[in-house]
Amino acid sequence: MFEMKNHTAIVTGAATGIGEAIAERLSQAGARVVIADLNLLDAEQVAARIGNGAFALEVDITRTESVAQAVEEVLRRTGQIDALVNNAGIAGPAGPIWEQTDEAWQRAVAVNLSGIFYFCRAVLPHMRARKYGRIVNIASIAGKEGNPGMVPYSATKAGVIGLTKSVGKEVATEGICVNCVSPAVVQTKILDQLTPEQIEYMTSKIPMKRTGKPAEIAAVVHFLASPDCSYVTAQCYDVSGGRATY
Ligand SMILES: NC(=O)c1ccc[n+]([C@@H]2O[C@H](COP(=O)([O-])OP(=O)(O)OC[C@H]3O[C@@H](n4cnc5c(N)ncnc54)[C@H](O)[C@@H]3O)[C@@H](O)[C@H]2O)c1
Repeated sequence: MFEMKNHTAIVTGAATGIGEAIAERLSQAGARVVIADLNLLDAEQVAARIGNGAFALEVDITRTESVAQAVEEVLRRTGQIDALVNNAGIAGPAGPIWEQTDEAWQRAVAVNLSGIFYFCRAVLPHMRARKYGRIVNIASIAGKEGNPGMVPYSATKAGVIGLTKSVGKEVATEGICVNCVSPAVVQTKILDQLTPEQIEYMTSKIPMKRTGKPAEIAAVVHFLASPDCSYVTAQCYDVSGGRATY
């Protein structure tokens, strides 16, 4: 039943949206969840609401020392990290490549890609020593299909898929499974960063002709973060209403 009693799970970007739904789902499965987010105030509210030993940590995933401190703090408080869900991400401004600034590009790389690199690197020594771990990275269908008007986002999410496959293979014999999930459009605050036309374009590409719900993403992440996911690694799972079939 994807039981996660006595597990500690870190979920980044869990102060809202998809991350919050993942945190709630893992907590219901018995895990003690660490709500790791830039936004400490909202993270604390989520931790209080989901209970079961959940606690909030302020972390900026773009800074390697902030990530290292967060991992140390979780180990100090709980003694273990069984699952890491790298969910925090940004869409960045919509527009063709010739309107994208250096700053928008660098911010997308820092949050969507470097943040996941730093977090995976920081937890893996601990997971390798315990010979157990589950890492789930949140990519996007944009990383497979390439959304026009979202070059920095699409490129960094493609990077997340590549990172997942490569790390998954590096630790495949060590009891650690590393997978990623690619959602299509999900109704969260991230969509505020985009224009209505961009959202309409992305939704029109979905065969189910509807947006996803955060809980629908959380259901797939739950399996991948649990011990039941034992023979699946280095994969990308689409949760996209059928948008990509490869
Ligand atoms: N909503 C969608 O349509 C959609 C589709 C595909 C993929 N995704 C991906 O799902 C993930 C979650 O998206 P969402 O829609 O819930 O987004 P959201 O904007 O609602 O929430 C993102 C969370 O990440 C946190 N965050 C941002 N930068 C951070 C940083 N540097 N350090 C720590 N935390 C940081 C924010 O504070 C926020 O709580 C993202 O990786 C996103 O790219 C979303």
